[in-house]
Amino acid sequence: MAGLYLAPMEEITGYAFRNTLNRHFGSVDKYFTPFISPDNRIMKTRCRREIIPSNNEGLNVVPQLLTNDAAQFNEAAALFADFGYEEININFGCPSNTVAGKFKGSGILRAPDQMDRLLDGIFNGTDSVLRSNPAMKISVKTRVGYNDTSDFEKVIDVLKRYPVCEITVHPRLKKDLYKGTIRMEMFDMALECLNADIVYNGDINTVADYEAVSARSDAGDRAVKAVMIGRGAVRNPGIFRQIRKGCGTTKRELNDFLCDLYETYNADCGEVNAICKMKEVWSYTTSLIEDDSERSDILKTIIKSKSAHAYKDATLLALSKLPDIIE
Ligand SMILES: Cc1cc2nc3c(=O)[nH]c(=O)nc-3n(C[C@H](O)[C@H](O)[C@H](O)COP(=O)(O)O)c2cc1C
Repeated sequence: MAGLYLAPMEEITGYAFRNTLNRHFGSVDKYFTPFISPDNRIMKTRCRREIIPSNNEGLNVVPQLLTNDAAQFNEAAALFADFGYEEININFGCPSNTVAGKFKGSGILRAPDQMDRLLDGIFNGTDSVLRSNPAMKISVKTRVGYNDTSDFEKVIDVLKRYPVCEITVHPRLKKDLYKGTIRMEMFDMALECLNADIVYNGDINTVADYEAVSARSDAGDRAVKAVMIGRGAVRNPGIFRQIRKGCGTTKRELNDFLCDLYETYNADCGEVNAICKMKEVWSYTTSLIEDDSERSDILKTIIKSKSAHAYKDATLLALSKLPDIIE
């Protein structure tokens, strides 16, 4: 059976979310932190909280870095190694124009030479994190090109030159953002051509979606090492347990999870921030409401809520419209 990973999602799947998910449903093999930019703000409060071991106890967490600078990567990676992390992930997928415009995230997919220099500095540089931590594993999360799938052939050539342990492939281009048909033929190409373990990511919302990816890999020469789930897990945090053990998430379980998540945020960063963070989560949860106009009205009411009281009323209404079992 392919492993199960929770995708990194900025502002959503941070330590509060992953700890709450683990307490309520478990069944996740690996959690990735939302991207951390390793500039001189690296150890400012937010990043520090994200990675300190006391906020990640009992979880298999991989910190993700977003950079095109090997020195910055190595400095941050050394710090993560001191905290006991055994794997660090590089983000070659972020489609934001601000990020990609600086040849970071998906932006580096149109500059294979720059990717080559980055990986060379990470694996072979004089300040490589591997010199003092030879067991440290480096993994990559990537899209399949910037504007064109032909970019990916050059990216594959570069990636093949380095002992990257695992490559998560989201088979979309930068220009696709998170929409449109998955370019499955590009995922198959990655599976066939890359030596590293391959992880599938994209549009897994149900057990059937997971099984379709598994069946596809079973039919080929190489198995998919794991499936990474993002939006589908924010919508239904019990999806991992469901895939593994077969039992769907009940409405009551989802409610308990969401209440606990709210309380965790509240304790961590206060009521106003907690409501703000929960609105982001509910934008996915409300997609479970079948009726289109009801869904959009309820989400609007949640988004408008400013007090804990208004938030609770709005979310109670939302909950009453959810199916009893989320499949
Ligand atoms: C709001 C949001 C934030 C994201 N933040 C990150 C991030 O920090 N690092 C990353 O590698 N991918 C990030 N992603 C991409 C997801 O990890 C994932 O690749 C994408 O959502 C597709 O998978 P899914 O269909 O299972 O959601 C983000 C996606 C969304 C929607």
